[in-house]
Amino acid sequence: MKTEYLDRIRCDRLRNRVTGAAEAASWIKDGMTVGMSGFTRAGDVKLVPAALAERARREPLKITLLTGASLGNDTDKLLTEAGLLSRRMPFQVDPVLRAAINRGEVMYIDQHLSETVEQLRSRHIKPVDVAVVEAVAITESGAIVPTTSVGNSASFAILADKVIVEINLAQPTGLEGLHDIWIPKKRPMREPIPIMSVEQRAGTPWIEIPPEKIAAIVITDQPDSTSSVLPPDEDTAAIAGHLVRFFEDEILKGRLTSSLLPLQAGIGSIANAVLAGFVHSPFQHLTMYSEVLQDSTFDLFDAGKLEFASGSSITLSPEKSAQVFRDFARYRDRLVLRPQEVSNHPEVLRRLGIIAINTALEADIYGNVNSTHVAGTHMMNGIGGSGDFARNAYLSVFATKSTAKGGKVSSIVPMVTHVDHSEHDVDIIVTELGLADLRGLAPRERAGVIIERCVAEPYKTMLHAYVEEARQRGGQTPHVLEKAFSWHQRWRETGSMLAED
Ligand code: COA
Repeated sequence: MKTEYLDRIRCDRLRNRVTGAAEAASWIKDGMTVGMSGFTRAGDVKLVPAALAERARREPLKITLLTGASLGNDTDKLLTEAGLLSRRMPFQVDPVLRAAINRGEVMYIDQHLSETVEQLRSRHIKPVDVAVVEAVAITESGAIVPTTSVGNSASFAILADKVIVEINLAQPTGLEGLHDIWIPKKRPMREPIPIMSVEQRAGTPWIEIPPEKIAAIVITDQPDSTSSVLPPDEDTAAIAGHLVRFFEDEILKGRLTSSLLPLQAGIGSIANAVLAGFVHSPFQHLTMYSEVLQDSTFDLFDAGKLEFASGSSITLSPEKSAQVFRDFARYRDRLVLRPQEVSNHPEVLRRLGIIAINTALEADIYGNVNSTHVAGTHMMNGIGGSGDFARNAYLSVFATKSTAKGGKVSSIVPMVTHVDHSEHDVDIIVTELGLADLRGLAPRERAGVIIERCVAEPYKTMLHAYVEEARQRGGQTPHVLEKAFSWHQRWRETGSMLAED
């Protein structure tokens, strides 16, 4: 390491800002709002948060922490255990933080990922005092080159009073040139986003800020955390199979061509596995306009199926990460990383006509989807970008296994206990059992299709009985209100949604 970092700080007058993490972190004071880089474990800052946690154990220190999305390196765990977090937004996936949120100890604002910096820019929320951003390098003019994610880093750096940069020597300089930083103007001067196709670039490959705002530079060589998604299994392969057949049929009907439309796939094991299933599909010349690029993106590149992928981060399993970054030159010209407000922007998504594939915790018989709240109360991760994409997609698909918790929980229920994606934004529900195409169907018709195609026995019989009783009460969207959550209640009381009889 030693002086290797000097090549990465190309702006001479910033070289004297290099300091230790504790000293850099001292710019952050009790009560401040801090914007840190990091999106789905990629490109997160590593040393400054650890120094902050250390300080919070010794002195009163609470902050509001904004990021792009989830952090790696157990940072959210560390910060939670140190009692540093008073508020956290817009996304997390950490079990320790999740538990603190669900105990009401950390105020969590679960937010559409495209909206956080819009709210900052409009001063709807408190401004960012200090931005802490991971970088591959700082250019001659003092601009910051991000690493494996862009997320909200650019706007945090632009909007904050002070910026701390972590130069990460473990991140390859081959990442330079990968990013496209385009930031919308303030309203009412807003202009259309000049992105007409997935590969189009609109901005600069670095984050431009006045160099004097960079208060400290910290050097690290700690790699990103790798992803923890599970490999595809029989169920996820079946889900992928139903989707492949559905898209083949759309091609036959002349509604899609064999290159489909730009694909978006959500986080987690299911969405990754579903996309990986496209490796053995007949589709060709695919493109992606997504937010996180997982293993499946590179599987599709390697299979010769994918032409180009646009995202906001790259998050890979240990094996895939080693291979992709070793051979990065093979992929680089077919990739771009953008700020999350651009990767997830409704205007671009509508224009390009995205096929959005996201995951439900549970869906109901009318097609409403809960992706965030277990039994309506307990936060799992957050809505992430799923709402940005689902609401504005050409086709909005939600995938889930038909049951969870070893069959004790049905993922299709009479009424979802929390609505992230309403029936108005959901076109397709698919489980390992089948696919329900809800387009053009009224709620009463949707119920029949969802139950028949997607639900496992004995929940199927139970749902048919529920619908029959509900229909006797009438309504556009019939329900037996006193029974609508009885399955969840039974799960809470007995550990299973299954009725005794
Ligand atoms: N009720 C309660 N828990 C359920 C459930 C249900 N109906 N369905 C699944 N779960 C639990 C699983 O048991 C598992 O729990 P565990 O971690 O304790 O084992 C957990 O949820 C994850 O489920 P899994 O089946 O492994 O799916 P996944 O890894 O694909 O994650 C979501 C599914 C919904 C949690 C995840 O996709 C998510 O957070 N989505 C919201 C954000 C999002 O979509 N962002 C992407 C936009 S680009």
